[in-house]
Amino acid sequence: MTWFPERRQPSWLQRLCEAVLKSGPIPQHVAIIMDGNRRFAVKNSIKKCEGHLKGFDKLAETLEWCLDLGITEVTVYAFSIENFKRSPDEVNGLMELSRQKFAKLLEERNLIQEHQVCVRIIGDISLLPRDLQELLAEAVSISANNKRAVLNVCFAYTARDDMCNAMRELSVGVKEGLIRKSDISENLLEKVLYTSHSRSVDLLIRTSGEVRLSDFLLWESAYSCLAFVKVLWPEFSIWHLYAAILHYQRNYSKIQIARQNLVIERERLQRESDYQSMLKEETEACSKSEVPTTSEVPVQPTDSTLTYNKNAQALVQQYADARKSREDAFLTHV
Ligand code: FPP
Ligand code: MG
Repeated sequence: MTWFPERRQPSWLQRLCEAVLKSGPIPQHVAIIMDGNRRFAVKNSIKKCEGHLKGFDKLAETLEWCLDLGITEVTVYAFSIENFKRSPDEVNGLMELSRQKFAKLLEERNLIQEHQVCVRIIGDISLLPRDLQELLAEAVSISANNKRAVLNVCFAYTARDDMCNAMRELSVGVKEGLIRKSDISENLLEKVLYTSHSRSVDLLIRTSGEVRLSDFLLWESAYSCLAFVKVLWPEFSIWHLYAAILHYQRNYSKIQIARQNLVIERERLQRESDYQSMLKEETEACSKSEVPTTSEVPVQPTDSTLTYNKNAQALVQQYADARKSREDAFLTHV
């Protein structure tokens, strides 16, 4: 099957449900753990590789449903680093399937441009066969400027591997003097994750009835709505997608509040960190010059909201601006 299957005429019930759902908040970023291909194969007495092929077909269909609903970003778990531990036959089969499907995507480049879908690969592609790496790179490159929707394919990915890489990048940045240890924050760390260009995940769906995240988008899903669907991935239907979106809509307000609180808390922590770092810098500068400072910076903030004088506020702002410039230079370097 192609990445862009022939569209079937939606039934009146489908059109009605879609319209009802669209009157509420639609998740902009949906992540999917497409689980259950092998169980589907056993259930239907077909080979494992055929189960995965059915899984791909379901992905193509699901992407169309998502586009129709106005979902602008979809991230799928296509192959985890853990999957390399499967039998060589199965791993090779999955690599071959990916080769064929990405070659097909390149053949259909006019369709990908027509649908304006930008494809990104998330993961350590150096673990993949060279020829597949090249196909993936080409798919990314031909679609890079497409603006309507983004498809992130997680390939040779685990969230913990991503976080370890990010930490390595940060520690190299500190070692090379591009950033300071005190510059490391949640905000900076997520800018070096593979998903740094993505918006936050609104809805994460896992099929097959398993209720765990299996090292998928652990950072990004901290404030996402989770939907565990008791159906094998190749059996996933538009009704399951609608049900997951309804589940998201029911939990929407609580999720939004939690996210807003997170933003406020991060800003508070950043201000506090900037204040403490500026204070340390000032103290060190004073002790070096042994000249009393004119800045009248209080030794300690008077309370957790950091009430301090105007002079100190200006110094903190100056410090924050310098930190931001360091971070920008570091991110450009990364
Ligand atoms: C999980 O089911 C599925 C996978 C490990 C592979 C998913 C891959 C696809 C759907 C094809 C995607 C291809 C491209 C080119 C993007 P499982 O194997 O764990 O099945 P089980 O849970 O029943 O054992
Ligand atoms: Mg599985």
